Amino acid sequence: MSGAYSLRRRLLAWLLISTAVIGVIALADTYREAVKTANTVSDRVLAGSALAIAERVVVSEDGALEVDIPYVALEMLTSAAQDRVFYRVDGPPGTFITGYQNLPSIDMKGEASAYADAEFRGEPIRIAVLERSASTGINSVPFVVTVAETTIARRQLAQTILLRSALRLAVMILGAATIVWIAVTFSLRPLYRLGDAISERSPDDLHPIRQSVPSEVEGLVETVNSFMVRLQSALDALRHFSGNASHQLRTPLAIIRTQLALSARASTLEEAQAAARKGDEAVAHAERILKQLLMMAKIDAAGSSQRALPEPLNLTSLAQEITADYVPKAGEADVDLGFEGEGQVFVAAEPLLIGELLRNLIENALAYAGKGAEVTVRVASLAGVARLEVEDNGPGIPPEKRQIARQRFARGGETDAPGMGLGLPIVEEIASLFAGKVDLSDGRDGKGLKVSVTFSPV
Ligand SMILES: Nc1ncnc2c1ncn2[C@@H]1O[C@H](COP(=O)(O)OP(=O)(O)OP(=O)(O)O)[C@@H](O)[C@H]1O
Ligand SMILES: [Mg+2]
Repeated sequence: MSGAYSLRRRLLAWLLISTAVIGVIALADTYREAVKTANTVSDRVLAGSALAIAERVVVSEDGALEVDIPYVALEMLTSAAQDRVFYRVDGPPGTFITGYQNLPSIDMKGEASAYADAEFRGEPIRIAVLERSASTGINSVPFVVTVAETTIARRQLAQTILLRSALRLAVMILGAATIVWIAVTFSLRPLYRLGDAISERSPDDLHPIRQSVPSEVEGLVETVNSFMVRLQSALDALRHFSGNASHQLRTPLAIIRTQLALSARASTLEEAQAAARKGDEAVAHAERILKQLLMMAKIDAAGSSQRALPEPLNLTSLAQEITADYVPKAGEADVDLGFEGEGQVFVAAEPLLIGELLRNLIENALAYAGKGAEVTVRVASLAGVARLEVEDNGPGIPPEKRQIARQRFARGGETDAPGMGLGLPIVEEIASLFAGKVDLSDGRDGKGLKVSVTFSPV
């Protein structure tokens, strides 16, 4: 199958791409938050250290500032073993008191304390600065404590947080992918079962599929079922046709063979000609049978494929044309064939099929009404209802036999007219294709037969 693709792979691709995109955004956010948290925590420690140092700044007797930095103050500074701590204490602007003299200082912007990132001895550091003043009792001497720490620990903390989040995300994505894989496998199972159920069927088993399927594929199953119904009726029509054809054609074919054999053995020209004539009649009979059977099969097929209603058809002119075609034949049969109908009457129907319907009715009338009969083809419209009638004044069909005459292969008894009892059923089926109704009733003055077909308004 061209363009075949895997539903499972498609779903997985969608899932992986979307979770990857969302995951990367989440990770970036997590990293930012981690860095911020690590900084806040470490900044607080730095500030504490600066405060501890500031508390140790005193004014000596000679008025100079002195610092006695306790070991513990530095000890508590180092939050991690690898990090190094630097400090520096400055007196009034320009006077360095103690610590690392080249430790960068930062702009306080008028605040009492500040933090900044900087670089010292080629390493990134975080600096905390605290401004205080020491009192001599008479006046106060301002000083600044600067404490700095390398940022190895806080960077590690942020990285650890990031790594853990990334791991968690990867596990989640993998988990979701596995779940999708399993879920798809389970969800597709009914489809596989459906496929198996269909492939296990025998070729002529066209029963509707009864397998329970997910609602998403119910439409598909319905379509397949309606297709099977159509296939079934097409097959039925075909079987009907071939069965009927072989059965119905057997008699005329046997006659043809007999007549051919007779003509081969004929001693006189007259005998041969008579045999040929009988053979020819049998061929005509066979032709008619084939034509009727084909028409029946065509209707069977048309009936099963529900088509849209055809274009409106001018019933009056169609019926008039067909009646005219039969005038010579009526003359030969010594029947007076006439047409009644004025104006235009439209029906939503297919002209070839309606033509076939009318031909069957006219042929019946010509065949069964008898010599000297009158046959009238009539088109009328009453309150929007179109009506097509064929009326004769022959022997007609007794009311109790009318229902039977409408069945396939039903023929009246004493008749030598060629036929097979398909005419009226064909009329009936064509009419029903176009929502028409067929009625058999007495002809004028209770004589003969009147067949009327009524169509609902266009
Ligand atoms: N106008 C009619 N007058 C009298 N009898 C009729 C008339 N039309 C039909 N019938 C009777 O009804 C029977 C069934 O008619 P139908 O047209 O179905 O089949 P058929 O004419 O016998 O064969 P086919 O039409 O298939 O060649 C006929 O055999 C005939 O006995
Ligand atoms: Mg007939």
